Amino acid sequence: MRICSVVGARPQFVKAAVVSQKIRDVGEEVLVHTGQHYDEELSDVFFEELDIPEPEYNLGVASDTHARQTAAMLTRLESVLESVQPDAVLLYGDTNSTLAGAIVGSKRDATVAHVEAGLRSGNREMPEEINRVLTDHVSDLCFAPSEAAVENLATEGISEGVFWTGDVMYDALLEARNQSTGASSILAELGLREGEFVLATVHRQRNTDARSNLASIVDALADVPLPVVFPAHPRTVDRLRAYGLWERATAELEVIEPLGYLDFVRLLDAAERIATDSGGVQKEAFFLETRCVTLRTETEWEETVDAGWNRLVGSNADQIREALVADWTPDSHPRPYGDGLASRRIVSLLQRELDGSDPDRRL
Ligand code: UD1
Ligand code: UDP
Repeated sequence: MRICSVVGARPQFVKAAVVSQKIRDVGEEVLVHTGQHYDEELSDVFFEELDIPEPEYNLGVASDTHARQTAAMLTRLESVLESVQPDAVLLYGDTNSTLAGAIVGSKRDATVAHVEAGLRSGNREMPEEINRVLTDHVSDLCFAPSEAAVENLATEGISEGVFWTGDVMYDALLEARNQSTGASSILAELGLREGEFVLATVHRQRNTDARSNLASIVDALADVPLPVVFPAHPRTVDRLRAYGLWERATAELEVIEPLGYLDFVRLLDAAERIATDSGGVQKEAFFLETRCVTLRTETEWEETVDAGWNRLVGSNADQIREALVADWTPDSHPRPYGDGLASRRIVSLLQRELDGSDPDRRL
């Protein structure tokens, strides 16, 4: 089988890292980087640390409006698929790179396969929700990370080609957790002690592109009695500066550059609590049993909330403060996202669907 994997943004590098090598063990992979993320700390660092093969193609689209960015991906990806002629186009998550792969792939004679299918936040004002819905509806194979994701797809009339595989980010986290404890010296570098700091990330359009929301988040984080480490996405740095919030943020918080995965996982594991609007970080906090305060009012990872590890507070300063300071105790730790074998299962399913073989019946 010849698989063209399309990635472009930070979380997709983490997900592809655990699938890519397994594909190459049994077939051919052509890796396409759209160029959506291009800064070294959002892109190269993941390829190096996680040993992801060098992409065969980089579409070099860079940043732009949603339409212009996606349009550039469409035209460039079409040419690549014409020359590669893959059996399948493999897509991850919910970014504009995912959507571009879905549109181009579904109009060609290739199987479109979506990893992290079926997630729904219910909020169609999020560009990611639009990308999820559209991608699932043109995918031939939907690899769902949870039972709820399978149900979401069924509700929308998608049941053929749907497989509950578990979540590849869980696979990635299990591999990184032990490695990061030995390899990362980030706690010492930042002068932090285990369990005595809060880790924060913000990059969601709704939080960065409205001054009042970003100001409210900075105000709330500034009041936390523990040190707050804030690896800032370039989008957030740009908005903090534009809104005149940069001085306050850097005076009150430990604002640092985005981190590589192993350092970031080390901080996630050691933090007293997390404050984030990231999808992946909510889930990783849950895997590592670190309480998470989510700066959104809804989530596609609802199991983390149901289990009591995640609280949804939006950008309301009082609610953020309360959730970061109050003592709340999660009472259970279910495992709704699989067993750490999602990537193996996905590659086996691809082999079965594309080559007609059934190499690993036990999975
Ligand atoms: C994108 C995804 C989001 C995902 C996130 C992961 C979409 C619609 N959004 O959001 O789902 O959670 O990636 O981090 O696909 N920029 C840089 N350097 C870079 C990349 C971006 O400075 O290497 C800046 C640019 O000013 C750019 C802004 O960040 O305009 C936003 O980048 P973009 O890729 O459009 O969206 P993200 O917010 O990163
Ligand atoms: N991440 C990282 N360094 C950082 C922030 C995040 O390695 O400074 C990792 C994080 O562990 C997770 C992924 O990037 O695996 C999440 O990316 P992001 O929050 O940008 O996107 P989302 O998951 O919201 O789409």
